[in-house]
Amino acid sequence: MKKIVILFSGDGFNAQNIVQKLHNKECFVACGITNKKDAKGIEKLTSLGIQTKVLQHGGFNSREEFDGKLVEIINSYKPDLVVLSGFMRILSRVFTENIKAINIHPSLLPKFKGTRAIERSFESLDNECGVSVHWVNSELDGGEIIVQKSFLKEQNETLENFSAKIKQIEYEIMPEAILKVLKI
Ligand code: GAR
Repeated sequence: MKKIVILFSGDGFNAQNIVQKLHNKECFVACGITNKKDAKGIEKLTSLGIQTKVLQHGGFNSREEFDGKLVEIINSYKPDLVVLSGFMRILSRVFTENIKAINIHPSLLPKFKGTRAIERSFESLDNECGVSVHWVNSELDGGEIIVQKSFLKEQNETLENFSAKIKQIEYEIMPEAILKVLKI
């Protein structure tokens, strides 16, 4: 069975969804790694029987040094693929040149790269919004698109409703992208 490692920083709803849909069925989730010791996703993955590791960036002198340690931990699991699901770090070449990874981003890339993508796409004049899963490369949110799905913004739509639609699409297309990349 193909092996994946999941990286996350916060709530971990996408990480939880990946485990619930794919773990021990389509692929094996070897570990969840987070850079935040209080990330809510730790509890979610632990309760699903997934080992988690915390690697805080505070103790490192540079981005490259942190990424070097992260790469070392990831490679100890020998994964076929690394899945960034809400991992809020800018990655150096130490990571991008050594790790085969995909990332989920809550906008129709190349629009709204970077932080607050949901809010910026909600506040924009765009009618068509959506979610992208893409390959990770050295450019922030810049790698080749694997799966993208859009929806139409409704008139008088609230941010809450808009975010809920984004999340629903995320839970659908992230597992789809993983299967596509792993060719399962
Ligand atoms: C998700 O909406 C994901 O698309 C976004 O962070 C959220 C994590 O939520 N990622 C980015 O904005 C990456 N630039 P989760 O921890 O509940 O899965």
